[in-house]
Amino acid sequence: MLDIIRLLLLTAHLFGMAAVVGTFFVQMRHRSGFSTNLVLGGAIVQVATGIALVGARYASDLEVNHVKIAVKIGIGGAVLVAAVLAARAQRGQGRVKPLFHTAGGLATVNVLVAALWQ
Ligand code: HEM
Repeated sequence: MLDIIRLLLLTAHLFGMAAVVGTFFVQMRHRSGFSTNLVLGGAIVQVATGIALVGARYASDLEVNHVKIAVKIGIGGAVLVAAVLAARAQRGQGRVKPLFHTAGGLATVNVLVAALWQ
């Protein structure tokens, strides 16, 4: 049962990643009209499911790499802050592009951390 919960959380985690990184790749060369709400939603899902995944791994007695998780929380938190600021800048006519690139670029770094650091 716990395994099914962990795998469903991992599925949601990967959909969240797709929302942030996919939107970034499609719109990175745009000058305006960024889908900041999609990136923000994905970033919230990433941090929430990421923390839940750590709990699920503990509950299943699976190995948890604490340094890797600390790095992922740090980068994931920065992605979330950049996504919140990007969404706010878009509503208030601020400069969206640098914040959009910060969120998308850092999320891409977190994919590399997730996949290459085993
Ligand atoms: C933008 C932020 C993030 C991205 C792009 C991302 C990406 C990924 C990817 C691609 C995987 C699958 C590869 C693997 O299993 O190693 C993964 C797994 C995982 N992530 Fe993240 N992640 C993010 C944030 C976080 C955060 C904030 C946490 C923890 C607080 C976290 C915890 C985990 C855990 C525990 C797994 C392994 C799941 C399992 O196999 O049981 N992630 N992440």
